[in-house]
Amino acid sequence: MPTGLTVILSEPHDRAMLTLPGTISALRPGDVSDELLVRARHVHVASLYLQPGLAAGLSEVFERAHRVGLTTSLDTNWDPSGKWESLSGILEHTDVFLPNAAELLAVTGASSPEEAAAKLPGTTVVMKDGARGAQAWWPEGSCAAPGVEVDVVDTTGAGDSFNAGFLAARLSGHDLPSALRWAVTAGSLSTRAAGGTAAQATRADLPA
Ligand SMILES: Nc1ncnc2c1ncn2[C@@H]1O[C@H](COP(=O)(O)OP(=O)(O)O)[C@@H](O)[C@H]1O
Ligand SMILES: [Mg+2]
Repeated sequence: MPTGLTVILSEPHDRAMLTLPGTISALRPGDVSDELLVRARHVHVASLYLQPGLAAGLSEVFERAHRVGLTTSLDTNWDPSGKWESLSGILEHTDVFLPNAAELLAVTGASSPEEAAAKLPGTTVVMKDGARGAQAWWPEGSCAAPGVEVDVVDTTGAGDSFNAGFLAARLSGHDLPSALRWAVTAGSLSTRAAGGTAAQATRADLPA
């Protein structure tokens, strides 16, 4: 089986991704063993709709992760099939859900982000919103962070850089508003160069 490969066609106002799944869809829940889990502090899952085999047992993986003291997060990314199969069993065990605005509405069937967040009361919902930045909702509150103005070259990887900034902040003890500022900064700075990793933020770029 070949290694998975994605070709990204990026233009100033949109992008298309062509993926050869290869081994991407071969991951199974049982591959994420307890032995692996106990060596981590947090489990993050991305591109869920490209991994139907994992998705089928992800609620059980997240449950096991919680049992051994880890936290969990999920960025579904886009569903190329357009089916947006329900995530209710999985979101029950997801501490932080990190969709972009379009994905949040598609997953929940809601007509506004606020309505969508209200449908997921047990989960911290962190919504990426392109140049506008991001918003977050959690059981006791909500907040927003504006996008950082940059000369955008390519938004490939901005969502993943955002996730990395958010999770790094949370795992180093920052509160949610501060973590959202780290996330937006990491996402925005990553757009300064072509490709997903050429212009990543460093610790020195992130707010105190
Ligand atoms: N045009 C832009 N200008 C500045 N920051 C941007 C821009 N596009 C994306 N970002 C940053 O990257 C983050 C994620 O981008 P977004 O496009 O919303 O997510 P995704 O890549 O998952 O679709 C945003 O929250 C923002 O911080
Ligand atoms: Mg994304």
